[in-house]
Amino acid sequence: LDDLLAEGVAGRRVLVRADLNVPLDSGTITDDGRIRASLPTLRRLTEAGARVVVTAHLGRPKGAPDPKFSLRPVATRLGELLGSNVTLASDVVGDSAKSTVDGLGDGDVALLENIRFDPRETSKDDGERGAFARELAALVGDGGAFVSDGFGVVHRKQASVYDVATLLPAHAGGLVLAELEVLRRLAGTPDRPYVVALGGSKVSDKLAVIESLLPKVDRLLVGGGMCFTFLAAEGLGIGDSLLEADMIDTCKRLLAESGDKIMLPADVVIADDFSADANTQSVLVAEIREQWKGLDIGPITADRYGAVLAEAGTVFWNGPMGVFELAPFAEGTRALARSIVDSDAYSVVGGGDSAAAVRVLNLPEDGFSHISTGGGASLEFLEGKPLPGIEVLERS
Ligand code: 3PG
Repeated sequence: LDDLLAEGVAGRRVLVRADLNVPLDSGTITDDGRIRASLPTLRRLTEAGARVVVTAHLGRPKGAPDPKFSLRPVATRLGELLGSNVTLASDVVGDSAKSTVDGLGDGDVALLENIRFDPRETSKDDGERGAFARELAALVGDGGAFVSDGFGVVHRKQASVYDVATLLPAHAGGLVLAELEVLRRLAGTPDRPYVVALGGSKVSDKLAVIESLLPKVDRLLVGGGMCFTFLAAEGLGIGDSLLEADMIDTCKRLLAESGDKIMLPADVVIADDFSADANTQSVLVAEIREQWKGLDIGPITADRYGAVLAEAGTVFWNGPMGVFELAPFAEGTRALARSIVDSDAYSVVGGGDSAAAVRVLNLPEDGFSHISTGGGASLEFLEGKPLPGIEVLERS
């Protein structure tokens, strides 16, 4: 971005890929963290007089326009935060996009409609994606440039992330650079003890990161829905809690290989229903009632995990410890986050639901060294996988 600004962008059209994939509840944005994270790069460009065309996705529409996945609420919020009008084109590369881009003055911002409304964005066919990327690049025309600032999507080989960067002069935005710096610190020589807390619903989603982090970390604290498959692997009855039966053998192997690095809950909060007004109980993991579901870690576990975090030199946290969206099951996540805030460790929150939890539970954002905007992207980076959206910039 510095290079591009040094070249001068006044009057030039700049296509910015942002990650504005925010959670919505009946059309209302429940956490605008990703929109706010996109502001510094957009402001630097508009202040330098660029005509900014933002592309982004929302959710996973099926490659066709769908009002449920419209970026309309995002455009409104982005405009409020920028303090200027953000015009939303009603299509991606069609007539509305063209006329919206034509109408931009210096320092203006337009947003194209959900990039995933066009099936070519996520196509596995290089030719299809390439053709779509050419249409995107044509919107900014000769003299245009591309800024990749959607860190949360750099692990996707998609037209607006990857292919377009092969067609236009391509630059990393400030958010992408900041995120990479933090993750490189974690992957390099983090201060010890290095403690990773992982939650979320599925072990299968986290398996690759667990495998690659285990040799590097001192402690791996497990919570969230995925802890129940681990508890089942230890031979415990888990009632009606979430279970990935086909992962039990893998969990057994990980537990056997990890020595005492993997810590599992000692107690959990169980409920007779998945709802905010269910009957609940905190029980030891050996006492989970049949037909009840575990929906959070319990207070004993929160204390034990807190004691480990208090001693940590570096912490990476990804995935809530329980169903924090429902008040009776939010305490585990709140306690874990609070322990991280209270520790002196260099602490990174790995995007997605955990970043949303920090904000929804009103925890102080500045209590963490960094809150990543990338869920899957930060995990794939830590797994050591190549990130197509970064590789293409390095080659550019
Ligand atoms: C995310 O929410 O992690 C990013 O916006 C990427 O979304 P995706 O997993 O649908 O590609």
